Parts: sequence; C-alpha cells; structure tokens
Amino acid sequence: MEVVIVPDAATGGRLVAGAVAALLREHSSIVLGLATGSSPAPVYDDLAARHQRGELSLAGSRAFLLDEYVGLPPGHPESYRAVIEREVVARLDLPGAAVRGPDGGATDLEAACRDYDATVRAAGVHLQLLGVGTDGHIGFNEPGSSLGSSTRLKTLTAQTRRDNARFFGGDPEAVPRHVLTQGIATILAARHLVLLAWGEAKADAVAALVEGPLTAMVPASALQLHPRATVVVDEAAAAGLR
Ligand code: F6R
Repeated sequence: MEVVIVPDAATGGRLVAGAVAALLREHSSIVLGLATGSSPAPVYDDLAARHQRGELSLAGSRAFLLDEYVGLPPGHPESYRAVIEREVVARLDLPGAAVRGPDGGATDLEAACRDYDATVRAAGVHLQLLGVGTDGHIGFNEPGSSLGSSTRLKTLTAQTRRDNARFFGGDPEAVPRHVLTQGIATILAARHLVLLAWGEAKADAVAALVEGPLTAMVPASALQLHPRATVVVDEAAAAGLR
C-alpha cells in the first residue's frame, strides 16, 4: 500500500485527477469507480477544471457508483445517483447513460445486486475512488462485513447515519437505514484503488486501515490485500500514523 500525505485536500484532488488524466492518455476509454460524500469532491473539482480547460474528456468512458441508498424517491437530491449527476456528469462530458449505480428502487433488490455486481466485474474498473467512514467502512461495507462480499443490501450503523445526517438537514433519522453497496471483493477487483481521507475525524480510521491488522471489523483494512492501493491523506488524517 502506498500512502501519500499531501498538505491539503485540493492538492490531493489534483494528484488523483492527474492519475485519471494519465489513464486517459493510455486508454481511449476508461472505467472509473466513483464514490460520493465529501472525500472525492476535490478530485471531481479538479477533473471538471481540466475538462473546462479542454485538457480532459470522459466522453468515451464509463463509470460505476459504489453504493446507493434504498428507498429514496426517484430523483431525491441526496440519492447517490443524483449527487454524481450534479458533481460529475453535469460538469464533465461523461454521458449520464454511461454511469451506472446499484438500483436502490428495484422491486427485487437481490436480483438488482447480482446483476450490478456481474456488470461491474465484467466492465473491469481501472481506478476506484474510495472514501473511508469514521467506523472504517468502504462503500457501505460496515464493520463486520465479509472480506469476500459481493454487491448486497446492508444496514447502516448508527454512527454512519449520524455522520451522513449533514446531507439530510442534520437529522440522523432522515438518513435511510438501508443501502446497496458493492461488496469488499467487488471493490478489490478494481485494478487500482485510491482511498481519500481529509481531516482529523478520519485519523483513527486511517491508522487502523493502514497499520492495523487486516480485519472485517475495519473493512478498509482490506486494501492491504490489494496489489495496487494508494491512500491519499492530508496531515490531519495522517496524524495517527506511526
Ligand atoms: C460513499 C461511500 C462511503 C463514503 C464514506 C466517507 O459513496 O462509499 O464509504 O466514502 O462514508 O464519507 P465522506 O467522504 O463524506 O466523509
């Protein structure tokens, strides 16, 4: 695992957007794994700036979301599909039709998970962006998730619902209880994993995932199993590293 400590999130965003730009020079079309939440925002900002300067095009590429809430009404502004439409699709030339996510509104959630997992694996993700939860989750694989898991229905911990309440008017009860998430094995199938973490609230999770034992109780520690995992953190998020 490579750990890169940057002075601030904007620098980290530039670094990771640079890795995406390098992939696009290598392959005409790439498959990106997109995360939502605050952590990837500086990457999306820098990708949008490069696109605006005419330096980067995702027109021929595809993207897959890590996870989605279950049961939000279609078009809800905090559904992860809507977030990616706003933060990525609207600012770059990645076609909306080239972005797929787990279908949190499916009547048969199990079948939707199975199909999504097969589609993601068949596509072969070149670069998967990840954040980490304060409880050590990746995607929405909460502590105790099987390291061999595939896309499936999960229940959020009270901690994650508190952490995400800021997107739902500050009320943890307004955060859906259930989500569909790529499994840990699905995530590990990507060719390059890039985990981003900013701020002191992530310091314990970063220390546990980088230096702690490999354990299902810290799902992000599964990155230790991957041959190409990069952790990009600012100094505050790196504060717990030895
Ligand atoms: C979001 C996701 C989550 C977040 C994590 C950190 O698609 O998969 O694992 O990356 O909850 O969230 P932020 O970045 O908002 O601190």
